[in-house]
Amino acid sequence: MTVVISAINGKGGAGKTTTLMNIAGEYALRGRMVGMIDMDPRNNLTKWWSDCHDKGAQADGIDVVSHKTAKALVAFCERKEGLFDVLLIDTPGEDTAIVDPVIERSDLVISPIQPSKREVLGAIESFNAVARINDTARRNCQHAVLRTRISLPVRHTELYRKIRPIMEEKVGTYLFRTEVFERNVYKDLHNGVGTLQMQEVTEAIAKARRETQALVREIDALLASSGEAE
Ligand SMILES: Nc1ncnc2c1ncn2[C@@H]1O[C@H](COP(=O)(O)OP(=O)(O)O)[C@@H](O)[C@H]1O
Ligand SMILES: [Mg+2]
Repeated sequence: MTVVISAINGKGGAGKTTTLMNIAGEYALRGRMVGMIDMDPRNNLTKWWSDCHDKGAQADGIDVVSHKTAKALVAFCERKEGLFDVLLIDTPGEDTAIVDPVIERSDLVISPIQPSKREVLGAIESFNAVARINDTARRNCQHAVLRTRISLPVRHTELYRKIRPIMEEKVGTYLFRTEVFERNVYKDLHNGVGTLQMQEVTEAIAKARRETQALVREIDALLASSGEAE
């Protein structure tokens, strides 16, 4: 069975594409076939992939395609989904009509947030959309929130401290224990140098790799727990 993971936050630009690139690299390294669908008209993922091609740095085991409509997404999934172990769907940073069809095909929706009110609200909206679609379509898609671009000063802010009680107690979604720190290595990846996992292991890369491995462990545990619940 193909596992479908999408990154959705209609009110944020704090790391949907970067997160999916890192997850893709980790699964590919483990020998999984990874498909990535770029549904964002800004085409950041597609551009990254073509830059990787130009630099001879496309990762083995990853394929990136660009589909911008629900119809194209559905057609792609019907024809090609089975070719992949993991399918990752990247979405625009604004509310669009494609969000519902993406959720309808997802096993897990990840909403990355920086500690900003706007992005926290966007993550809550994504959770509500997942809950609504689970209800109407009788599905069991999971939702989880990922804190990204975290720095030590940010950890001292009031909003940062409120994220866990808001997400876990008020909203009732899952907050990843793993946080993605603000790191230049993540920025550099956007220059078409391949995945994080393809980089020469410096101390900075090793830290980012550990962070990504911890995130993927949490993702696998979440997906396993939803499988048991079915
Ligand atoms: N953890 C991080 N550390 C440093 N820069 C980051 C991190 N995550 C994302 N960025 C940078 O922030 C910008 C937005 O990230 P991106 O993944 O494209 O967000 P989105 O897809 O949600 O719009 C990019 O320029 C990216 O390089
Ligand atoms: Mg993006």
